[in-house]
Amino acid sequence: MYFGGVDAYFTPFVRYEHGEIRSKDIRDVERKNNTVPRLVPQIIAATPEEMHPLLSLLQNEEYNEVDINMGCSFPLQARKKHGAGILPHPDMVARLMDEIKKYPSIKFSVKMRLGWENKNEWRALLPVLNNAPLAHITMHPRLGREQYKLPADVEEFAAFATECSHPLIYNGDILTLHDIEQIEARFPTLDGIMIGRGLLANPALALEYCQRKELTSRELCGRVREMHDAMYQVMSPRLQGNTQLLGKLKPYWEYLMPAMEKRYRKAILKSNTIDKYMQAVSAAFANY
Ligand SMILES: Cc1cc2nc3c(=O)[nH]c(=O)nc-3n(C[C@H](O)[C@H](O)[C@H](O)COP(=O)(O)O)c2cc1C
Repeated sequence: MYFGGVDAYFTPFVRYEHGEIRSKDIRDVERKNNTVPRLVPQIIAATPEEMHPLLSLLQNEEYNEVDINMGCSFPLQARKKHGAGILPHPDMVARLMDEIKKYPSIKFSVKMRLGWENKNEWRALLPVLNNAPLAHITMHPRLGREQYKLPADVEEFAAFATECSHPLIYNGDILTLHDIEQIEARFPTLDGIMIGRGLLANPALALEYCQRKELTSRELCGRVREMHDAMYQVMSPRLQGNTQLLGKLKPYWEYLMPAMEKRYRKAILKSNTIDKYMQAVSAAFANY
């Protein structure tokens, strides 16, 4: 919201585990804790039984869109046939697709990879998805077992696009305005482009797309500084002590402004008090 240009935000996945939904996950999707105009909660589940409590929660919060994660490659999830771990099992996906028919007030979508083990898995799965009542599919064209290692496979995305009968969204390795324009030119009928790490690195990326113009590094630095200061103002009264606040703020710097000189990022990530953190952040902005 600080920069604009984003049409919809998808939450990190919410899961049902050991008979419960973590209270942190519940807080994160509660309406009262969210202000963006279109927030789509995402769930991860292998069976209708796991899906049910998650959908009840989201229905109670009056969401009418839900995304189903079939792309997560974290081994702890995939081992339980969650996320990309479900991709080699069209029968299990079919059970989930039957279950969603019981929630007519919700528009469902799926976020997926090409497969877990090999790039043909989507071919066996797609008929199940094409027959399901989905609003769209987001394809991140990698394999689950690759995690993030190899580049996204745009050629295989093209093959998927010709067979997929739902509106399709592209995701993967979009870092610049030029990257967006290239995907858009090659796939003019896409329903959208989803950006993950690229938006964390450059929070102005979606805005740049809307304006068809990149921000100068000076403009970017000024806007990121404003965003950072606003986040600090909001978070500091809520989070107690150095540890909690630093635990929330420092992770942004794993991705933010990749062009920054290494030593400034290192100083931010190494800081162990708020004072040291703020000094390191000021130095980073001043020298960007
Ligand atoms: C640390 C981390 C956590 C992620 N968590 C989720 C998630 O909860 N749900 C999801 O759909 N994708 C998740 N992703 C994957 C991204 O949404 C995206 O599909 C992937 O990073 C490729 O797109 P990108 O190159 O634009 O980042 C995560 C990625 C990373 C690196």
